[in-house]
Amino acid sequence: MKNILLCVSGGIAVYKAVALTSKLTQAGFQVKVLMTKSAQQFVQPLSFQVMSKNDVFYDTFDEKDSQVIAHIDLADWADLVIIAPATANIIGKLAHGLADDMVTTTLLATTAPVWIAPAMNVHMYDHPAVLRNIEQLYQDGYRFIEPSEGYLACGYVGKGRLEEPEKITALALQHFRTTAHEQVLVVGGAMGTIANNQLTAPVHAAMLATEVAKAFASRQIYTRLITHEQQPRKYRFLFTEQMMMADDVTKYVREWQQQHPNGLVLTDVLLPKGYTLEGVHAFHSQEEAEQVLINELKGL
Ligand SMILES: Cc1cc2nc3c(=O)[nH]c(=O)nc-3n(C[C@H](O)[C@H](O)[C@H](O)COP(=O)(O)O)c2cc1C
Repeated sequence: MKNILLCVSGGIAVYKAVALTSKLTQAGFQVKVLMTKSAQQFVQPLSFQVMSKNDVFYDTFDEKDSQVIAHIDLADWADLVIIAPATANIIGKLAHGLADDMVTTTLLATTAPVWIAPAMNVHMYDHPAVLRNIEQLYQDGYRFIEPSEGYLACGYVGKGRLEEPEKITALALQHFRTTAHEQVLVVGGAMGTIANNQLTAPVHAAMLATEVAKAFASRQIYTRLITHEQQPRKYRFLFTEQMMMADDVTKYVREWQQQHPNGLVLTDVLLPKGYTLEGVHAFHSQEEAEQVLINELKGL
């Protein structure tokens, strides 16, 4: 049973975090909830306590167990941390390494992966400072569950709605699944070297590889894309991890294959004549890439 630490900050979507706690628990996760002071303005800790069947933590100095320091103990306990809803404020604090309450202190102490699910007014989400903080956190290795578009409690229609609890739960289940080919590496439009040869790539390769990576990711397959082109922010959602070109592509692919023995590597880069990369599948169109995946899944 995996442990999920759910950090709840003070937005109108806190009520959805109660549903998320319930969904995660029903899915078989152990859930412990941490709340900011503002979050408690929206929902009482008791609701989370009942749904998680665990204590709720909100006071850094309320040390319930004298044998441990609570925020370190919780940080170590977690296999995955989800901040939902994540306010503009908590995103800003985390981006700047501030730790002035139970949630932020624990966030700095954990080494588990942290997913951030922002929810806020559409103009707040578009504010340059918020965008800067999101970019910083992305660079620091945090991953985002992008808010969806729709009617916002503030009356606006736009991007800023907390992703649905069912979807976040599905992402968490997927994260811990270990079946083959849940991991795909797409090498596309790459400028680097393979076997001391400068790689060549068709002009459209980066675009094609990006489309393929997006299509796989939308089916909740972890997809890592290596390409020389900077991708727009909208592609940086949880299941695609864009990398700038690794200098030595062969070395990068080999290491990735070792780390992901069941993973699948696809490329639309034209390899030097007579050169093959073991275990790497070539594709020249979206359909071909889909077919490689289907064939591989059939062959299991
Ligand atoms: C009714 C109401 C709804 C709010 N909704 C949000 C929200 O959805 N997103 C957000 O970033 N801040 C929202 N805020 C503002 C935060 O509560 C405020 O910035 C607070 O300082 C956040 O503290 P925390 O990040 O420690 O939880 C809301 C405030 C009120 C009064």
